[in-house]
Amino acid sequence: MRDIQTREDISFLMEAFYSKMLKDEEIGYIFTEVAKLDLEEHLPSLTNFWENMLLQPNGYKKNVMDIHLQLNAKEKLQPQHFERWLFLLTETVQENFQGKKAETMLSRANSIAAVMQIKINS
Ligand code: HEM
Repeated sequence: MRDIQTREDISFLMEAFYSKMLKDEEIGYIFTEVAKLDLEEHLPSLTNFWENMLLQPNGYKKNVMDIHLQLNAKEKLQPQHFERWLFLLTETVQENFQGKKAETMLSRANSIAAVMQIKINS
């Protein structure tokens, strides 16, 4: 298995991750019923976020914490939602890639999830 190397790799991962999340019993409704996402916009935004973090600066500068504080105001995000989100991301990455970038993606996601939970509870 190879490491994450290109924007296409990230885009592929985000599609696979969201196809798991959208049909997930625990968190699927947050995407489909609470946020009512337009995936045609959302998936490229997520790809920009991870490309900027893992591969090359691309000018991504949305405030990801604020986005989730607003989401949390609509629907309280629970510890089990974060656990499930991280479990599905980890599973998706490990099914497809192996290497330094793949590990960095998972460690960053874990750190961001930890900070997010502190912020939404303070
Ligand atoms: C309980 C866990 C989580 C849930 C249910 C969740 C759900 C969502 C939803 C519904 C949006 C879209 C909000 C909107 O545009 O109105 C969003 C955006 C986003 N999420 Fe999460 N999220 C979670 C955790 C995380 C974590 C831990 C990360 C860490 C990398 C993350 C990264 C992002 C990014 C980068 C965006 C913004 C994409 C953009 O528009 O540029 N999320 N999330």
